[in-house]
Amino acid sequence: MAVAQEDFKIIVVGAGPAGLLLALLLSKRGIPVVLLDAASGPDQRPRATHYGPPAVYELRRAGVIDDVLADGFLPKKICWRKLDGTYLTGLDNSILGDDPDRVACLPLDQLGRILAKHLAKQPEAEVKWNHNVTGLGQDKGKAWVHVTAPEGETTVEGTYIIGCDGANSQIRRALHGDWNFPGRTWEEQIVATNVYYPGFETHGYEDANFIIDKEHWHMASKITKDGMWRVSYGEQGGLTHDELKERQTMKFERMLPGNPKPGEYKLTNFSPYKVHQRLAVKMREGRFLLAADAAHLCNPFGGLGLTGGIVDVGGLADCLYGIWAGKADADEILDVYDKVRREKYSTMVDPISSENLRRMVSDPETVLEPGKDEFLTLCLKAEKDEEFAKKMMMGIYELQYDFTKHYKQ
Ligand SMILES: Cc1cc2nc3c(=O)[nH]c(=O)nc-3n(C[C@H](O)[C@H](O)[C@H](O)COP(=O)(O)OP(=O)(O)OC[C@H]3O[C@@H](n4cnc5c(N)ncnc54)[C@H](O)[C@@H]3O)c2cc1C
Ligand SMILES: *[C@@H]1O[C@H](CO)[C@@H](O)[C@H](O)[C@H]1NC(C)=O
Repeated sequence: MAVAQEDFKIIVVGAGPAGLLLALLLSKRGIPVVLLDAASGPDQRPRATHYGPPAVYELRRAGVIDDVLADGFLPKKICWRKLDGTYLTGLDNSILGDDPDRVACLPLDQLGRILAKHLAKQPEAEVKWNHNVTGLGQDKGKAWVHVTAPEGETTVEGTYIIGCDGANSQIRRALHGDWNFPGRTWEEQIVATNVYYPGFETHGYEDANFIIDKEHWHMASKITKDGMWRVSYGEQGGLTHDELKERQTMKFERMLPGNPKPGEYKLTNFSPYKVHQRLAVKMREGRFLLAADAAHLCNPFGGLGLTGGIVDVGGLADCLYGIWAGKADADEILDVYDKVRREKYSTMVDPISSENLRRMVSDPETVLEPGKDEFLTLCLKAEKDEEFAKKMMMGIYELQYDFTKHYKQ
């Protein structure tokens, strides 16, 4: 049933990067939006760092890219190496020059602060912290969520409700069941660390380095202008947090260029986590929609997780705007959203990110041989052919989909 424009309201559950960006894209177009989050304020944990070209496109559309680049930076080269530092091959983002959608780097907590600052200026947007969503329902004309808030239990109603509530999404669990999130969990676990260590620069590391090694595989990339690096490395499953912490100095000495001892670097963050490849059975159930981590998960190598989530949200904003403005048939366009976004995960995000992880545990001595690793073979070609390199880097735009094609003529 169509809802009159003056009654139209979007509820977004989750004020992570995806929810904040969606609320910003909608409220800037005049659509009333209420954002609910269980936490007492923005997430301070340093998580995602790199945003690919189709995500940068959405950050630009939301009007925040200048602030992102003022605090962050444009990484230049990404490369693959052996554990002893030997360079294998790489891709150089600088050949894209001043392309407005070049990969941008900024730690997630800082992106969240920028998005929240911009959202606070939008009269159509309201952010409610300490609002924990515990249940949901819908009928023909509206949808609602049950919320535990400081003032007690309440119900919040909207025309559509969007679950941007992360990997443990309460919206997804309420719609599909607690454990119904098909996919798999990697046996390996990942430890994400932030570190200041001048040795990366003195040993000639590029802005992003993937080290291929059966045992000590890891990624080391510069993540702030002032020289903080993210080192994410693989560890065997089954180790406890304390065991992982104890092994960290040994791992750094074996992995990092110059084999540093603890006094030679400054560790500022240590976060072990499990990695999954999972996709929700549906991203639409009537008036409920899912986006970003609430809908799909992937391992962090290649930065496809949040990039894919940001692309979801940009597309969903176009769908909801189309419905609000009377330009699109709601059932039709939201079913396309569900179909297209799940397809993009299955055909791009899942296989590419899985390959990125598998490549890191392959044999560095033979990985460049013809037929061994298609992607690295293309990188070797791209190093000699700039036009080809540009085409290769722009391939990631395939993640996008133009939902305005489904607006009525
Ligand atoms: C240690 C770590 C390192 C990572 N590194 C990378 C990386 O290098 N590259 C990469 O691409 N990705 C990385 N990721 C993943 C990336 O950070 C996520 O893809 C991204 O944060 C997802 O954003 P989101 O907005 O979908 O969800 P989230 O950021 O998880 O936000 C969800 C929000 O929903 C709120 N919420 C949850 N439940 C409820 C509820 N019941 N009611 C109300 N609100 C609720 C939460 O409080 C939270 O604010 C990493 C993740 C972790 C944990
Ligand atoms: C939200 O409520 C659930 C119970 O439904 C609880 O387990 C969780 O800790 C609460 N979250 C916050 C941030 O209060």
